[in-house]
Order: sequence, then C-alpha cells, then structure tokens
Amino acid sequence: MCGIVGYLGHREAFNIILKGLQRLEYRGYDSAGLMLYEGETLSVSKTKGKVFDLKTKGQTEGNVKGSLGMGHTRWATHGVPNNVNAHPHLSNSGRLAIVHNGIIENYQALKTTLEQRGYTFYSDTDTEVLINLIEEIQQKEQVKLSKAVRMALNRVVGAYAIVVFDHSNPDQLVTARMGSPLAIGVGEDEFFIASDASPFIEYTSNAIYLEDGEMAILDRTKAIEIRKIKSNKEVDPFITELELSLEEIEKGGYEHFMLKEIYEQPRAIKDTFRGRLRVEEGLIKMAGVEQHLHTFLAAKRIVIAACGTSWHAGLVAEYIFETYLRIPVEVEYASEFRYRDPIIGPGDLLIAISQSGETADTLAAIKMAKSKGAFVFGICNVVGSSIARESHAGAYTHAGPEIGVASTKAFTTQITVLTLIALKLAREKSNMGDAEFKHLINELESLPSKVEQLLQQDAYIKEIATVYHKAEHSLYLGRGFNFPVALEGALKLKEISYIHAEGYPAAEMKHGPIALIDEHMPVFVIATRKGHYEKVVSNIQEIKSRKGKIIAIVTKGDQQVAALADHCIEIPEIEESMSPILTTIPLQLLAYHMAILRGCNVDQPRNLAKSVTVE
Ligand code: AGP
Repeated sequence: MCGIVGYLGHREAFNIILKGLQRLEYRGYDSAGLMLYEGETLSVSKTKGKVFDLKTKGQTEGNVKGSLGMGHTRWATHGVPNNVNAHPHLSNSGRLAIVHNGIIENYQALKTTLEQRGYTFYSDTDTEVLINLIEEIQQKEQVKLSKAVRMALNRVVGAYAIVVFDHSNPDQLVTARMGSPLAIGVGEDEFFIASDASPFIEYTSNAIYLEDGEMAILDRTKAIEIRKIKSNKEVDPFITELELSLEEIEKGGYEHFMLKEIYEQPRAIKDTFRGRLRVEEGLIKMAGVEQHLHTFLAAKRIVIAACGTSWHAGLVAEYIFETYLRIPVEVEYASEFRYRDPIIGPGDLLIAISQSGETADTLAAIKMAKSKGAFVFGICNVVGSSIARESHAGAYTHAGPEIGVASTKAFTTQITVLTLIALKLAREKSNMGDAEFKHLINELESLPSKVEQLLQQDAYIKEIATVYHKAEHSLYLGRGFNFPVALEGALKLKEISYIHAEGYPAAEMKHGPIALIDEHMPVFVIATRKGHYEKVVSNIQEIKSRKGKIIAIVTKGDQQVAALADHCIEIPEIEESMSPILTTIPLQLLAYHMAILRGCNVDQPRNLAKSVTVE
C-alpha cells in the first residue's frame, strides 16, 4: 500500500516528512515524492526509487524549506513506477497538491469529462484526476478548498486516504479517508497526518483516527474541524493517547507481519474485486483480458507456470478453468518447464503467477513461452515488476505488499483473480447461463465476509496448534479443488515451523503414505461437504483405524466427520470451486501458531528469501 505523510506547524517540515516516509517504508513502495510550501513558493520533488534518493533530490533542488508539506511513498496501482506517476500530484493550475493512498474506481469516466473541459493529464494515475476534479469544482462553484474536496469525494467511487493543499490558502491542509487508513497526530501548535502513527509517534502520542467517510480541516489559525463527507455534519474530535511502540504500529498491532497479512485477506480480496466484480450489473470487467479476448477465447489449452505457493494457486486454477471453460489446463513448475524444451506455441496461452513478479524461474519460463509464440498473461502483486513487464498482458492482485516470507494473502488473491478470469471467459464463451453466473458472482462477493468469520476462530485454532506443535511429521490430505490446498497447507507448515509436512490427494494415501500413520502423526484433512465427501470420510476412517490424529476442515454443521476427528474446524457454506479461499485460512493460522510455539521466526524463516530472484 502507499504511505502518506503531512505536516503543518512551527518546525521545518522537510526532515519530519522524510523521516515519516522512512517509517512507512515497511509498507513497500516503488517511488516517492514530497511537496513543501514556503513563502509563496510551492515546491515538489519526486523520484522513482527510495526515500533516501528523495532526500538527496530535495537537497539538490533546494526544496527543503517550509513548515507545511506532504510526502508519499507509492505502491503503484494505476501507472508504472516513475517520476511522473509519483505523488504529490498538482492540479493543472499548479495551485492544488495532493497525495493519495487507495484506488479511485471511476477515475476513467471522470478523466474523460475533465479532458472534454480542457484539462490535461501528465501521469497515468487516478490521483491526478482527483486533484483536477477538486480544482474544477472549486473554480466552477467558487467554494473554499474543504467544500470542493467534499463535493469531489461525493462523486468518486473507491478507496482513499488523501492530503490536499491549496496554495491560495497556505495555512490549511485538508485530509479525508474512505477504505484506507489515516491517522492525525495532534501536537503543540502542529498537526501530523499519516497512514499510521509511526511517522509522528516520536513527536506526539495524541492521535485522532478518522472513520471511513470523514474528513478533517487542519488550520494554523483554528481548532481542528472534522466533518462527514456525505452529510457535512460536524464530528467532535476524539483524541486517543497512543501506547504502541513503533514496531507494533508497523505491524498494525499484530505480533508478526505474517499474522497481519493473514488478517488483511478480507480487505485484500475486496481490493482484488475493486472495479472488476460488478454484481449489480451482473458482469466482470478485466481490461487485461478484454484487450485480448480473442486470444483467450481461441486458446485450445492453457499452460500455467509458477513456483511454490503461486504454483499451488495455479493448481487450484486448473480445476476452476477445466470446470467452467472445458479446455485442458497443464500446471508446470516453472523451473522444470524452462529446461524441458516444452511443446508450446502459437495459439497456446501461458498464465504466469508470481507474487513478487521477480522469480527467476517463472521469468525464464515466460521468455521461453514467448520465444515459441505463446501468448503470456502475468498475474502479479507488484506493479511494474519484471514478470509484469515481460508479459503480453496481465492482472494485478492488489493485495498490497506481502512482507512475511510465507505467502498468505497473495495465494487467496491469486485464486480470486483466476476465478474472475474463469467466470468472465465462461460467460463470453456462453458456457454459462445467467442464473449460474449470477449465483457464482454472488458466491464470490460473499468471500471477504466469510474469511472474516473464519478469522474469528483464531483462538480455537491456536488451541489445536498447542496439541500438535511438537510433532515431527504431518500429512495434509484433500480432494478435487482442495487437493492443492493440502499441498499449500503442508508448505506453510514446513517453511515456518520446520516440521516435515507432506500434502497428498486423499485417495493417494493408500498408495504409500498410509504406512507413515501412527498415533504420533497429525493428519490435516479437508472434508468439505461438496468435495467428494463420502470418499474423504472413508479416508478418515482408514486414518483413525491406524491411530492417526485427525484435524479436519469441514463445512459448518458437519456431524459425520466431527464424530470421527480429534479436532474439527468449520468453514462457512460456499460453492466448492471457491472453497480453497476459505479452507486455506485455518491451515495458515495452524502453521503460524505451531511455528510460534516452536520459537521459530515466522516472518523470516531460516534458509528462505521472500523472492527467489536467482536459480
Ligand atoms: C511460499 O510461502 C513461499 N514464499 C514461496 O514458495 C513462494 O511462493 C515462491 O517462491 C514463489 O514466489 P512468487 O510468487 O513471488 O513468484
């Protein structure tokens, strides 16, 4: 996610903003910028690169003076990382400046209208559209900045945390939030604004957290004013005395980045839907697919190349694509594919999946496929990454930076994007009638709230982890859509707890692994009601008769497996093809808690890197 910082007070803003941006670097970013106001002059410095580069650039450009300013670290969503797309953005007149964290979904329509009214755009960002919309309203309605901001925000759809400045009213900053975090630090004759409290905690522990749909007017000459964006109703400021340490703030109050990212999944899935899943209109919009729809529809087969967790997401997609598109799908380890002189060529579609967008084997697989004439579609989480740039087209997961080495929200948002693609293409191919499509997109839309419900079982899941954290070996079993989740659950456990864990299709147990089962072996079994249930129950009975310990992931209300298993974790009812996004959650939490109980470093497990950029 982007990071924003604002300052208005009696100190020099330059170092406060730079240090504040450094405090937000943990959020991940690709470019940075700042604006300062000093005696009639509004100066902006921006750079593709790190906050340190921005400091040097600001000093070189002499943009260091001023007791009012704003800064931004950009995690690109619209427009590749470069100086032009970096924030702050100015309005056409140069009078207004903005920094923004979030996604304006209807920016294209607003941009077209503003262009028709003579506005010019220099960047590819949705943010530049917002600042010019504010300017247009201010000039047309002849209103002050705060009213123009409020009127503009009532016309945008999407998520935002913004700071806005008007050169003609230099004692004021206006800030607002909807769906993106924002904190206001209240000091002695000074105000701080930031994405979280880490940039200002050393200056003041007095914080105001705006609610979604609220805006604040910070002014040197008067008390802070907070209003509802929709109704303009004034809200009494509520100041909180912060007691969090800096490190706790960066982790959002969670003990580890991995746990924070597990809990971010409802929001991350919502962000993956944003602008794409249109349930009311009964459609799915995906620009990257629509621009090459003929290629997708003409593809005789789909090859998926990835590594690790992303490979598991590809395996889930094999079941989803073959169910709804009825064309063959092959999922390849990128490292094998690239050296096998694979049979792939014109007319074939290769989908590359990668959270980092920098995995060497996956990048090499893409280049191999392109050299043989295949069309490559990349699914990444990092905008402007090597894989994103090397692919012919693609879609971003918009999960926000994933800091923990163990991939969690990347996995669920990858499956979300792949499901959106499958349903869109099934509709385009007329494989799917209105009623089925409507049902499936409603099921898809219900996922974030169902993940939220699952997270509420965390304490119970932690209790289960205390029973099994001393195990030396474990088995994970699943069938159909949940066979890949068994593999993913095993990977999660082994990579952060160092317990030996193997995932298998449940029916494969009889072909070898059953020899391993004894009273010391925990077996994690995914037994959803619509997933070959009776067959899985038989597998559970086989395990039980050999004294294996059974931890089952079941559909809410299950009684048959509950009578057999040592522990049951219930997931809400969901379409089976979408159940992997739910069944993986308890397995993520189990791995996390078992690793913590074993004293492991869950965010940086031994021998592992977040992105394997070398072979
Ligand atoms: C999974 O938890 C690991 N971090 C690892 O397997 C990872 O999924 C793999 O290295 C692929 O990374 P990518 O998605 O960035 O390409």
